[in-house]
Formats: sequence, structure tokens, C-alpha cells
Amino acid sequence: MDKIAILDFGSQFSHLLANRVRRLGVYSEILDPDTDSDILRQYKGLILSGGPASVNDPSSPQIHAGVFELGVPILGICYGHQITMHKMGGRVQKGVVGEYGLTNFHVKEARGVLAQLDPGHYQVYASHFDSVAAVPEGFEVIGSTPDDDFTATINEEKKIYTIQFHPEVTHSEGGMKILDEFINITGAKRDWSIDKFIEEEINAITEKVGDKKVFLLISGGVDSSVTYVLLAKALGPERIYAMYVDTGFMRKNETSEIQAFLKEAGVPNLHTYDAKDRYFDALEGKTDPEVKRKIIGDLFLEIQREVSAELGLNPDEWLLGQGTIYPDTIESGGTKNADKIKTHHNRVPEIEELIKQGKIIEPISELYKDEVRMVGRKMGLPDKMVDRHPFPGPGLAVRCLCLDAPDPVDVDVDAGEYAATALPVKSVGVQGDERTYRHPVALEGPADWDKLRTHGPKLTNTYNEINRVLYTVAIENGDKIETVSATPGSMTRDRITMLQEADKLVMETIYRIDKDKLVWQCPTVLLPLSVNSEGGESIVLRPVSSTEAMTANFTELPWDAINELAKALLQIEGITAVFYDITNKPPGTIEWE
Ligand code: XMP
Repeated sequence: MDKIAILDFGSQFSHLLANRVRRLGVYSEILDPDTDSDILRQYKGLILSGGPASVNDPSSPQIHAGVFELGVPILGICYGHQITMHKMGGRVQKGVVGEYGLTNFHVKEARGVLAQLDPGHYQVYASHFDSVAAVPEGFEVIGSTPDDDFTATINEEKKIYTIQFHPEVTHSEGGMKILDEFINITGAKRDWSIDKFIEEEINAITEKVGDKKVFLLISGGVDSSVTYVLLAKALGPERIYAMYVDTGFMRKNETSEIQAFLKEAGVPNLHTYDAKDRYFDALEGKTDPEVKRKIIGDLFLEIQREVSAELGLNPDEWLLGQGTIYPDTIESGGTKNADKIKTHHNRVPEIEELIKQGKIIEPISELYKDEVRMVGRKMGLPDKMVDRHPFPGPGLAVRCLCLDAPDPVDVDVDAGEYAATALPVKSVGVQGDERTYRHPVALEGPADWDKLRTHGPKLTNTYNEINRVLYTVAIENGDKIETVSATPGSMTRDRITMLQEADKLVMETIYRIDKDKLVWQCPTVLLPLSVNSEGGESIVLRPVSSTEAMTANFTELPWDAINELAKALLQIEGITAVFYDITNKPPGTIEWE
């Protein structure tokens, strides 16, 4: 079978590359970059991924120089571009400005992997600190960006192609054409399809489970529902015990909706466990995002274990099923060279241990959401389930920011005609493949998408203290931000109830106005910040457009709908301001924690 090897230097996007190669009909495999040349020789092409390290750092992941002499076509991306330049005699240095997010790629010569593009300008996604400063002998430069003269290079004789940006992310214009052309150059046969995946996966489940049964935690979202139908197809519903845990962090009325939904989708026995009190007790006084995530993941497991014991499910006869999809594992630091962005609830250490023991089954763990939806449709799940917005396992808990004490910030942000106020909280971001935990800045000024769209990336590229930019939509008291005071507190029932009310208003608006389904997901975030007053809270709207959540753009909704929504949100007792998150991913993750 023809395959492309992806040599993983720890990029957030290595598996996304595999997804893209599959979408182009070719099987691929992810390998360690120091894999032996004799093995690499057997692949039709090699893609060298990005990664968080710097090639000049002696401890950075390496590759044998011999790989470049194998005669197998090579595509180097981001870190893969830099290490190729470095190993072949060029020079890589720390960039004066990093590029995090969209940049303008100028195709100078449409050849090599750029052959399907026309000479001209393309919006592409980049995320890097270092840049190439000198290109090795034998390489020619065929593309650049305003901040990087050596963005795309080619060595025609050796069939080596390198690019600094990420063609694999959806937001890179022309990215799929670059990968498609690389596959053409490799001559790999295109024989992967979603039907083949389903067939192979059902066989794999039958083999792995043997005569055991599966205990499946199901959330009502698309991932666990698709996992259920695959397992049910392979094993029959009678060998699956499906349980839904109500954590108390679901959307308003969601638990009853999900119960009805799953019944309709053919899950015959859904067992519900009411864990609301346990979750609120466990999280009392906890404010650190990673601590919160760990408690939530561990409690899922504790409940699962207790229920198994009560039901007398012998651990030797039962496996634990999870609807993990690929982005959940990579962001938890799933591969050797990757940085940990956040711990997803189904990747806490105890689960990792069970995986090692072979006691977990995750049929869709290699897939991305777009592929999961394709599998769901093929398996006959109704559209309204397959098209649901993703909703993270820890639910509203990771959208309810908590503070022990104010988290002050001292930075003077110059945002031109916009007034800028850095806010005394932090949120999680991802920059240059690394986790960041930094402050947001709130802008005030014209409600003009053209201006806001260009301001955001400039500020996060320039100010180290900042990883998110917000637009101030409405304030309860006054017409501009005078003071922002922190309201220390943890996850209480009152705060979650407040967030549920706000989230309900937001989701009603989104479902009403987003007829073209531009919005992939829209977190509503509760911030413990009081604007021009004391003791209040604020709301952030975070609509994003994406296809696989590895990268995302904030969605530009119509201003009249936003203003109307903000007015309604300010009616909720205690809400003092409404912000709109205008940060792409990178540099900001979709969720705030
Ligand atoms: P971020 O915030 O990392 O999110 O840009 C990427 C996607 O993953 C979802 N997400 C989770 N899903 N368990 C999940 O099942 C989790 O712990 C978790 N954390 C984030 C997030 O909602 C988005 O769709």
C-alpha cells in the first residue's frame, strides 16, 4: 500500500496533516523524525511537520542528514522547513517579529508544490518565532511574506520543497493545492476512503473487544454518538452499557434534550447519573484552569468506577469506551515532542495508564470532527445530531473563569484609534505550538470589522503580555471603561446559573441568525470582572468558524444582532459588560481555559 510518512516534530498539526492526506485519498503514517532511513525509504513521500522547538537549541528534535539523500520527495513545513534549511547548510535565526495567525503569502514562481497556484498573493496561517535567514546552496526561493523573505523554497533536483506557513490548516488559502501537488509529485496511489475507514474500524473493534463488553460514557455530542453507533454495529447494542453523567455544567435544559435525542438516535438504554453535587463540591475554592480540568476528568473516572462496581461489571470483562477525537489528544501533549496546551477530560493521567493496559477503546481517536461527521452521516445519524456544535466534556466549567485574587497587568497597549485596556485575568492560548497563559486586552472604538480584523493580530504579535483581543460591545454603567475590578470567586451554582442564562440567550441568537452555519461553536464565557463598578461579572461572546478546531477564525456576526444580544445580556442581574472575542486560533484557543 502506498503511504506518505509524516515525521512529527511535535506540531499541533501533525495529525491534521494526516487528515489532509487522507482527504486527498492517500494513507499516511506518523513517525518519529529519527526513524531509520531504511524504513523511511519505503514511503512514497515524507512530510516534515512543524514543532515548538528552535533548531538552534541543541536539545531540539533532530533528523538524520541522510534522509535528504534518499531520493524520496520531501515537504518541510514550519519547523520542518527550518530544519531542512539548517541541515542543508542554511541559517535559521530568531525572527524580529513572530508571525502568529494570518499573513500574506506572495507566490513568486508557481512551480514545485506551488504549481497549482497562480503567482500572486494568498492569505495563509503561520505560527513561528524563528525564521530562515540564509537559504542553502541548491535551493531557490519561490515565495515570501511581508515579515519573512524566505517563506517557500525548492530544490528541484532533490525533490525537496519547504514552506514556513501551514498549508494543512483550512485557513491557508491554496493549502490543499500545495499538499495535492506534493502527492502528485510523490506518485502515491489514492485508495483511502471513509467507507474503508468504517469497514476497517468495525473489524478492529471486533478484534480488540473480543468477547468482552464496553462501558461507554456518552455526552450527547457528535463524537460519543458516532462512537456508540460504530461500537453497536460491531458488537450489538446489548454489549454496550451507555452512561450519561450530568455534571451540572451542561447548557440550560440540555440534559433532558440529550436524553430525548439519544433515544431517537437508537441508543436503547441510556443510564443517567446525577453528579451535580459531587462536581460542585469537588470544585469549591478551585480556580486554576488545569486543576479544574484534572478534577473534572478524575471525577468522571471515579464515577465510572463506582458505577461499574455497583453493577458488578468485572474489569476483566469490560473495556472503557471513549469518544476521543484527535484534537483532544494532541492538545493534551499527545506526542513525544509536543507541548501541552491543556488536559482534556479524557486524557487525565489515570486514563493514560488504562490506555497502556489496553483497557480503553477509542474508535475515532485518529479522526477530526469533519471526518467524524462524515462517518456519522454514513452510519445514518440524523443531521441535527451530526451538525451539533462541539461542546467540551467539562462543559461550562471551563467557560466560567475563576480568580483567587486580582491578576494585575502592567502594559500600555497602543491600538491606534481604539482605546485599549489590558484586563486583570488570564486565559489559555497557543502560540508557536506552545501553551501560553496571558492577558486579554479590551478595545473601545468604531464597530468596524475591517479595522478590528487587522488590529487584533498586530497586538498579539507585538505585546508579549497579551494573547487575546476583545471588542467592548456594551457596558452597563457609563459609555467607556473607567475601571475594571476583579471579583475573586470560584465555581458556584449561582455563577453557573448566571452563565447558563447568558449562554441560552447567546445560543438562541446564533441559531436564529446563522443560517449559513458559519459558526462552528460559540462559547459564552463568564469573567470575574466588574466594569465601572464593584462585585459584578462580565460576559465574552466567542463565536468561531473552523473545520477541525485546530485553527479557527472569530466569526464576524452582524452588528445589529450583536447589539441587541448585548442589551439582553446586560439585563441579567450582575452582568456589567459584554465583550466580543476577536482573536483567531492561534494565538487564542477556542475555549478560554
Ligand atoms: P481549544 O479551546 O483547545 O478547543 O481551541 C478545541 C476544541 O476542543 C474542545 N475542547 C474539549 N473537548 N474535552 C472535550 O471533549 C475537553 O476537555 C475539551 N477542551 C476543549 C473545544 O470546545 C473545541 O471544540
